[in-house]
Amino acid sequence: TGPDTVSPTGQPTGADQARMAQSGSYLTDAQGTRLYDTDHSLKAGPRGPVLLQDHHLREKVMHFDHERIPERVVHARGAGVHGVFRSYGTAAGVTKAAFLAEDTETPVFVRFSTVLGSRGSSDTVRDTRGFATKFYTSEGVFDLVGNNIPVFFIQDAIKFPDVVHAAKPHPDREIPQAQSAHDTFWDFVTLHTEATHHTLWNMSDRGIPRSYRTMEGFGVHTFRLVDAAGATTLVKFHWKPKLGVHSLVWEEAQIINGVDPDFHRRDLYDAIESGAYPEWELGIQTFPDTPEQTFEGIDLLDATNLVPEELAPVQPIGLLTLDRNPSNYFAETEQVAFHVGHLVPGIDVTDDPLLAGRLFSYLDTQITRLGGPNFAQIPINRPHSPVNDMLRDGFHQTAVHRGVAPYRPNSLDGGCPFTAGADTGAFIETPVKVPEATKVRAAPESFDDHFSQPRRFWLSMSPVEREHIIGAYSFELAKCYEQAIRERALQVLANIDPELCAGVAAGLGLPAPEPTVPLAEVEPSPALSQVGHTWPTD
Ligand code: HEM
Repeated sequence: TGPDTVSPTGQPTGADQARMAQSGSYLTDAQGTRLYDTDHSLKAGPRGPVLLQDHHLREKVMHFDHERIPERVVHARGAGVHGVFRSYGTAAGVTKAAFLAEDTETPVFVRFSTVLGSRGSSDTVRDTRGFATKFYTSEGVFDLVGNNIPVFFIQDAIKFPDVVHAAKPHPDREIPQAQSAHDTFWDFVTLHTEATHHTLWNMSDRGIPRSYRTMEGFGVHTFRLVDAAGATTLVKFHWKPKLGVHSLVWEEAQIINGVDPDFHRRDLYDAIESGAYPEWELGIQTFPDTPEQTFEGIDLLDATNLVPEELAPVQPIGLLTLDRNPSNYFAETEQVAFHVGHLVPGIDVTDDPLLAGRLFSYLDTQITRLGGPNFAQIPINRPHSPVNDMLRDGFHQTAVHRGVAPYRPNSLDGGCPFTAGADTGAFIETPVKVPEATKVRAAPESFDDHFSQPRRFWLSMSPVEREHIIGAYSFELAKCYEQAIRERALQVLANIDPELCAGVAAGLGLPAPEPTVPLAEVEPSPALSQVGHTWPTD
């Protein structure tokens, strides 16, 4: 019982290929009938009424009318690129994932994005950037759906609709288009102080990258790696750009917004066309998989936390090279569907409550965005390994399934024995012990510290980076209409650091409040500063 849905290579074949090519010496309608004129409707005389019988007119306009699909609910604006991932084999001791074995090459598709703006918004706005990678491995698709900021605004996915509603344009004015400079954003992040850390990163130079090629990427959550013997290790994934980490300064970003709103997209495309292929090393921080799931007192299930590289060095495990632009934006960049649940044997999820919600959300949204449940058959989403699922029918079904018995075991399609658990090469959920507990809507106490990690970030910044952060808060908060929100934001900043708070207060012409919590005793982490950044290693 071989693959019975798409071609084993995942590549389009035969009729598919011909359809994609759209070539030929003559023009046809969608049914392949040759056309002799596509510029004039069929009329009762040159000045007469247009006739309903003109199928070509109706088909052409009907298709145009339905060309748009909904843009992504977040990360709508993006740029995609093909490439290859070459594994060093250094992770082979902690994971059985085949694509991480020594000297293994895996094709990839990467989509970089902004988060808040619509599809047509500008590239150089202050925002988080998405960094999503689809690995077409020999064992199925693995997606690493990360950002250029290692922490997230919220700890539990149930707040994701709220944070996005707050950050997207105001429902009445539909402004601002692509920035966080508005009341609802600041209202949310000052009332939900778990957002303090991510907001601080956004207000730093990381919020305005110079190029997609000079951004770090982070898987954000803690994942669980599993080796061949079943031993587990907790990890955080990092992408380290070979070109180093670089940002724009605010004034540059403003000018570029006007002069070339496609700056990042163009930069990426042009670099690849000219053969300047950008590279990133994939690295992991590893932590023992203890029942507490903490490391040096840091809760590994809290996505508002990072683990300083000084405490857990990032160990390189492979090299990503982006070397081919898409030939069709819609087919590839727009239709690609990433999912944190696209895992392969050897990589598993943890109980991070933010990750749990993502596991539901991406699949769910893609049913609407891509018009039904069969989007895994779209060429850019097809695995490059055999597919033999029991999924059938539905909108946009393109597979012609064989056999009559889409269930296992069956006695009709040549036997098809299937014994649950017998396939040792399969993805098997790690048998992690679940703590004995009472069902409750609550977070652990360890999720309550919202200021010590932001303080570490602030203390790690160089003087010029601090100046930029103060400038960014002052500019963005000045755009709020509500004075009470500005004052609350200053209170949050006072709880991070008095110098930061005083700088922004002076920028806003307001008094600086005293902290309401004791300032955390934390060591700076030089690796957090772009000035102190020591990668690449060679
Ligand atoms: C899209 C990252 C949290 C829902 C994306 C994309 C990235 C990303 C990179 C764009 C993918 C692409 O290029 O197509 C992250 C990170 C998160 C996070 C790093 C936190 C660590 C969440 C949460 C939810 C969510 C908590 C919902 C509960 C979505 C949705 C999309 C999206 C609905 C659009 C997907 C599509 O239309 O294909 N996210 N996200 N994200 N994210 Fe997240």
